[in-house]
Amino acid sequence: MTTLSPVSPISPALLLPAGRLLAIASGKGGVGKTWFAITLAQALARRRERVLLFDGDLGLANVDIQLGLTPEHDLGAVISGRISLQEAVLRHAGGFSILAGHSGSGTLAQIAPPQLERLLEGLRAQSTPFERVVLDLGAGLDRSVRRMSAFADTLVVLVTEEPTSLTDAYATLKLHTADAPDRQAVVVVNQASNHAAGERTYATLARACQAFLGRTPPLLGVVRRDERVREAIRRQGLFLQRHPTAPAAADIEAIAEKLQGA
Ligand SMILES: Nc1ncnc2c1ncn2[C@@H]1O[C@H](COP(=O)(O)OP(=O)(O)OP(=O)(O)O)[C@@H](O)[C@H]1O
Ligand SMILES: [Mg+2]
Repeated sequence: MTTLSPVSPISPALLLPAGRLLAIASGKGGVGKTWFAITLAQALARRRERVLLFDGDLGLANVDIQLGLTPEHDLGAVISGRISLQEAVLRHAGGFSILAGHSGSGTLAQIAPPQLERLLEGLRAQSTPFERVVLDLGAGLDRSVRRMSAFADTLVVLVTEEPTSLTDAYATLKLHTADAPDRQAVVVVNQASNHAAGERTYATLARACQAFLGRTPPLLGVVRRDERVREAIRRQGLFLQRHPTAPAAADIEAIAEKLQGA
């Protein structure tokens, strides 16, 4: 296994244009992908982008749970052919649209490759009215996570300072390099104690990528650890609405601004 040792921060490379479709992955579970995807969708919508948030966690979808929604239709109905992708999209008061996953059953986790291809083709076709699609992926690196990561224009790899998160983020980036060598990956450090600590976490990951993969994913941003995140999720509220002045809100807004400027 690759050893990831701390190094001094390196300056992040400039971002290429990020593209319309962003997939959020991490390998390790519970690092904050779903919260980040929802809050980024909200931040981009506040900056007047037409955003579709797609719950691509086929095992344990929970965008709807974090937002306290009970969608009439979800991805399960789309995949079984009962409704179209377009019919399943709902408009959220946060100013963005959502395609909810299939909560709780885990039945989509074993989706067959041709079905997944059809779903992604449908997503491509139905997403044309949107300027941005944010795809929240599940934990792990199974076939469908890898396929959806490679499908995206840009893979956003979320990492925390925990060693297991770092090794899983590295594994995610390694597979993405093999699966989609022409696609960009970027890194977001979440739950950082402060910006400097987050940049050190990034530098550790970047060094391993440079040494073993021959390419360094740029740092898209650092999001600070903030107890209000947990509170907002518990109350199933939108973070930027509940805590507009929180440090983590400023961090997500900076990321949205950077994405729009890229
Ligand atoms: N910046 C942050 N500060 C504090 N807590 C955070 C932050 N980001 C995420 N969390 C906490 O991490 C937990 C997991 O968040 P979330 O469900 O979004 O992770 P996930 O990566 O989507 O998990 P899974 O892999 O199970 O889908 C939440 O309970 C949340 O409170
Ligand atoms: Mg999640």
